[in-house]
Amino acid sequence: MYILNRPRRLRTTEGIRALTRETRVSKNALIYPLFIIDGNGVLEDIASLEGQKRCSPDRLPFLLEKAVSAGVKSILLFGVPSYKDEIGSSAWDESGPVQKAVREAKRTFPEVTVITDVCMCAYTSCGHCGVIRNKKIDNDATLPLLAKVALSHARAGADMTAPSDMMDGRVAAIRAALDSEGFIDTAVMSYAVKYASAFYGPFRDASQSAPSFGDRRSYQMDSHNALEALREAELDVSEGADILIVKPAMAYLDIVRRVADEFHVPVAAYSVSGEYAMMRAAARAGLLDEAGIVCESAAGVFRAGAKILISYYALELAGWIDEGRLG
Ligand code: PBG
Repeated sequence: MYILNRPRRLRTTEGIRALTRETRVSKNALIYPLFIIDGNGVLEDIASLEGQKRCSPDRLPFLLEKAVSAGVKSILLFGVPSYKDEIGSSAWDESGPVQKAVREAKRTFPEVTVITDVCMCAYTSCGHCGVIRNKKIDNDATLPLLAKVALSHARAGADMTAPSDMMDGRVAAIRAALDSEGFIDTAVMSYAVKYASAFYGPFRDASQSAPSFGDRRSYQMDSHNALEALREAELDVSEGADILIVKPAMAYLDIVRRVADEFHVPVAAYSVSGEYAMMRAAARAGLLDEAGIVCESAAGVFRAGAKILISYYALELAGWIDEGRLG
């Protein structure tokens, strides 16, 4: 009898429920992704990601102000360049949108942690995450280019770079390039475990990075595989990754748990564009309570072992943490 009654006593008051939560969520653990487009004075809606904006570097402080006042202190920048070519050279242009945005963020909000996505898909004319030779991705030819991109971000002042291309060996290539120029404190948060996912649809529209032919299955992972995730994570840790990303989040919480248990580095879960769009659409249609499902999904990510959540809902989540709905 005594044992049976015990759990319920921990559910009696709001105070006791809050006190005894097993999972803690902090605003410090949130990363807000932002799309930076070339140009000036641009702040436009993204049709596929209702509520999110594409902004030019000069307008970034406007969005940072909102993030900082909500209590979100880390951002992840994606670039939408003005030109694309076969090798994606706009990705390492010192006056590209991401490089400019990093400088602007550091000038206006130096306390914000600036993380940059390192990939080629928004910069190559083919829309793939690396260089294409004979209709195939050329892994090794892509590595020095990724290193150049990461270096250009570090020179602009990025605190951390986040390679999302899924080429083998890129963490080592980026680490070596950063160290060679003295950027020893610039961290690498690697998208170690990235599945070939239908949940990226809205993002490709937002960053204009859909592949012009084929798909990404030769370099992104098959959703049926879990051991492969551990192999990918192991490689990235051995190459010097400081944080591992598992992506998407919702359909891969078992992978978050396994990677978090197996490796002694923080794990970040990326709740991707399709997850955001899905929750937003269901809420807009009046089918589900938005705060309820978003907070519950976020709690699930942390309960699964993630220490960091990358989410388009970061600002709203911060507000719901303030209200005590989460955390
Ligand atoms: C670039 C990249 C993608 C995402 C993050 N970095 C798209 C892709 O791999 O196709 C997806 C993020 C999201 O859907 O929110 N390689």
